[in-house]
This record gives sequence, structure tokens and C-alpha cells, in this order.
Amino acid sequence: MNKQSIVIFPGDEIGPEITTEAIKIIDFFNESKLTNISYDFADIGGAALDKYNTPITADALEKAKKSDAVLLASVGTPKYDNNVRDQKPEYGLLTLRKYLNLFINIRPIFVFNSLSSYSSLKPELINDLDIVIIRELIGDVYFGEPRGFKDVGGERVGYNTMLYSESEVKRITQFAIETANKRKKQITSVDKANVLECSQLWRQTVDRIMSQHQDINLQHIYVDNAAMQIIKNPKQFDVILTPNLFGDILSDAASMLTGSIGLLPSASLSDSIGMFEPIHGSAPDIAGQGIVNPLAMILSLAMMFEYTLEKPELSKIIKQAVNDVLNEGYFTKDLSSNDFVTTSEMGDKVLDKLKQLC
Ligand code: IPM
Ligand code: MG
Repeated sequence: MNKQSIVIFPGDEIGPEITTEAIKIIDFFNESKLTNISYDFADIGGAALDKYNTPITADALEKAKKSDAVLLASVGTPKYDNNVRDQKPEYGLLTLRKYLNLFINIRPIFVFNSLSSYSSLKPELINDLDIVIIRELIGDVYFGEPRGFKDVGGERVGYNTMLYSESEVKRITQFAIETANKRKKQITSVDKANVLECSQLWRQTVDRIMSQHQDINLQHIYVDNAAMQIIKNPKQFDVILTPNLFGDILSDAASMLTGSIGLLPSASLSDSIGMFEPIHGSAPDIAGQGIVNPLAMILSLAMMFEYTLEKPELSKIIKQAVNDVLNEGYFTKDLSSNDFVTTSEMGDKVLDKLKQLC
């Protein structure tokens, strides 16, 4: 079997705890000869600042680029909140995304039916919910120049540039089309074209590309309305195509439909590599207590097998194992505050299920 190499960034706060649970699964697959994966670790965020005084080193970037895939847990810690931009933990993540050219971010929003009563919405609104957010990940106001602080009329102002080129919009739209073709042939593109030039270009470009794909049902929606509709009637959506900033916000909102943000994985792709990370943050408030939900990380590993390591069957059985464990009523504290299993117990439950399923 071909050897596959991955780089793991445990990152900050709860990151190492959820990483341990994902590694249990990789080790099991390797021992069972289902995979031949070698993994190596690298630091990012606060963990890298602690050791190297930079949120990501050139070595770590290089290591990630040479690997077949990257698994990343979480980035961010209050310890460095007041640092200047390029010394903040999050800068490490943004640098890595840019360095690897990960312009596609896939955030599936789905509900395990055993959890439908945990959603903040009524079960009938979210039963069988299955939508996917395709978020552009390396453009927009996150990266636009100029940016910074300056003095205007004797006071400080902070400023950023919201910017998209046609080619950036085109490539992410093409990916949304590929996704829609495998699903319900329906795309909702998000913008704020009633106010922003950047959004007008987004909308015009999406329209131009989509004119070649008349079989796909395309709708445009303003981001404020999108936020409302996701809460009002999420099942009206199938593929949501969104710029970076709007996607960041909408994906956190959408995650609540599923019961807990601790359940949702994501994949970030370039033309040649993939990086896989939970959509949740580093949760400093619960770090180190063994109570964080490892399922988003475990499901990110499942996405890695699906999208980059070309082992869709392993992706399926991980999802099956997670589904079975939840059906049996095992929940971490984010879902069940009185009667819960710990992070490592949850990891073990999934592992036991996998052993039965393999
Ligand atoms: C996310 C996160 C990141 C983002 C942060 C940590 C920089 O919120 O992946 O959604 O804003 O993209
Ligand atoms: Mg976010």
C-alpha cells in the first residue's frame, strides 16, 4: 500500500485533547493495515509563539506543503490576544491557508437524527438537514490590502479592504458547481450587492459562470437575509456559495442547527492538497478539563479520507461509528451537561465501534 504522509497541527487550548482522539483512529487503521499513514507534528498559533516566537515557522509551512494532507485542531489563545496582527495565533492559520493556496472551504451542515432535539430549532425544521457551505477561504477582507491603522484628523482609525478579483470568484464558483452537480443542482450565492462593489463583482461573476450551467438552479441572497433564512427555514438551502467573511459568520450560525458546534468538520482544498479542521475554535474556557467534544475532529479525519487520501470507505465507516455512538446515547458535555462522557471516553467509544465495523 502506498505510504501517505500527513502533518498534524494540535494547536492551542483544547486542540491537543481532540488531536489525541483522532490519532487513536489513525493508529488503529494503520495497525489493521487499512492505511499506511505516517504522521508528523508541527506547531501553530500560540503553541508556535511559545516555542518560536512566531505563530507559524517557515519549516512548518514547508512540512505541510510536502505532505499529502494536513489535520489541524484549533488555533487561538487569550494569552496572545493583544499581540499585533502578525504575532497573533490566528495569523498562523491564515498564513498556512494562504501558503497552501486553500481557496476552497467546505463546511457540511448536517444533523445526526439522534440529536435533532438538541438543536436550537424545532426538530421538524432540522430533521434530515444536509446542506453544504462552500466558503472562499483566501480572499476578501481577510487578506485585502491596504489594511492597517492610521491617524485621520488626530484620531486613530482602523481599516481593511474588501476585495475579490474575477478569477478568485470564478474558481470557487466552479467548485460550487461541481458540488451542486453531485447534489441537488441548487446553489445559493451570498453577497451584499445592494451596498458593496466587491459584492457586485461577486454577483456578476457568479452569474457569468452560471450562465453556462442553466441546469443548476441559482439564487442570490443578501447576507443579512441569508442569516435570517438559515434560522427560519434551513432546509430551503442545498449548496451555499459564500465569500470568506460572510461564510465565517454564516457557518457558525448554521452550526447551531445541528446541536453543537463541536460536531462539525471542514475541509479546505487547493488544487493539490487538503487541510482538515473542525469549524469550532480553541475553546479556552473548557480546555484541559477532558470535556471537549472530539467528534468534529474525528469527522474532519473522515473528510480527509474522503477528499484527499482517497479512502471513501474509511470516511463512511467513521461517520457510521459516530452515528452509532450518538444513537446509543453517549454525549459529551456540550450536548448533555448532567450525564456525559469525557473526551477520551468518546474517542474510545468511536474506536470500539470502528473495530466492530471494520
Ligand atoms: C474559522 C475561524 C477562523 C476564520 C479564525 C480562527 C481565523 O473562525 O475557521 O471559521 O475566521 O476563518
Ligand atoms: Mg469562524
